[in-house]
Amino acid sequence: MQNLKFLGTGSALPEKVLTNQDLERMVDTSDDWITGRTGIQERRIARDDVSTSDLAAKALSVACENAGMSPSDLDGIILGTSTTDTLFPSTACWVQERLGVRGMFAFDVSAGCSGFLYALEIASALMAAGRGRRFGVIGAEVMSKVVNWNDRGTCVLFGDGAGAAVIGPSDGDSGILASHWGANGSLAPCLYQPAGGTQRPATAVTVAENLHTVHMQGRHVFKHAVEAMASAALSAMDQAKLTADDIDLLIPHQANIRIMEATRQRCGVPSDRMFSVVAKYGNMSAATIPIAIHEAAQAGRLQDGSLLLTTAFGTGFTWAAHAIRW
Ligand SMILES: CC(C)(COP(=O)(O)OP(=O)(O)OC[C@H]1O[C@@H](n2cnc3c(N)ncnc32)[C@H](O)[C@@H]1OP(=O)(O)O)[C@@H](O)C(=O)NCCC(=O)NCCS
Repeated sequence: MQNLKFLGTGSALPEKVLTNQDLERMVDTSDDWITGRTGIQERRIARDDVSTSDLAAKALSVACENAGMSPSDLDGIILGTSTTDTLFPSTACWVQERLGVRGMFAFDVSAGCSGFLYALEIASALMAAGRGRRFGVIGAEVMSKVVNWNDRGTCVLFGDGAGAAVIGPSDGDSGILASHWGANGSLAPCLYQPAGGTQRPATAVTVAENLHTVHMQGRHVFKHAVEAMASAALSAMDQAKLTADDIDLLIPHQANIRIMEATRQRCGVPSDRMFSVVAKYGNMSAATIPIAIHEAAQAGRLQDGSLLLTTAFGTGFTWAAHAIRW
């Protein structure tokens, strides 16, 4: 077990709401189809002049405020994202620039929707190794800027947002009881943004062919997501010697309600113990879990001693899960 505490959490969401009814006017879709297949009713969309680091910096400053400290007190910033501000430097460095802080290490983790849990795993390992005491861990995305708004199969799924947590030493028995993470790169082409990197640098052709947007084999992703999220969560529970009855709150990655429900059922956790924000925010990739954690904490669903189970799956494919004593 790694003793640590969530000292503060925060989130940042764009004001603009895009409803399923709005989408009905943009592509050949319906509220019925989107709600039935995904459980999503609306999502937030960032303004043109807002980038991932703007949302991430805001979420981190709220988390620091709730932790009763300043961002300059952090020993490091680790940010999970797939929608970076720039190819380089990292979005975590842009977050420092936005917040006016420097000195502490800052880097991004590229693990898709598992990004926040990967970042948390790294932060807790650094803490265990004595390489710092307080870390800002963020999941942030502006998915709306990498979505093909003419592709009804993907554009209805995603939203923008950021969530953050400040983790630090625990003087009690809170901490990460067990974790599990992994990846399978042979399935990379099932969910990816084909162009803009060194495989296919940006050209007029890649732009014309919409290769800078999300390309996804939806059914394939669905099947692997359920299997990987459930088995990662069960592995964390098993290592921590927990049964489903012990879990006070399950926060799975919020890609769509059918994936979440199937994962919950395989883990045996009762439905009233799963926390969901997917209906109002859609799939915000790495941001969904920290935003859900923040909202659950604000709602009093996470009390000292509560047992929280998180699990995620994303591009890569990647997966990760944590059993956490709050
Ligand atoms: C995307 C997803 C909701 C699609 O559901 P599905 O049941 O697999 O649906 P399919 O892709 O097989 O499409 C079924 C039909 O609906 C149509 N369709 C797709 N998107 C649609 C939309 N927005 N509105 C209406 N119809 C749509 C398809 O064209 C297809 O029509 P056809 O049978 O005439 O060819 C589902 O595959 C999914 O949730 N996948 C995981 C996505 C995800 O979470 N990705 C991120 C993971 S981190």
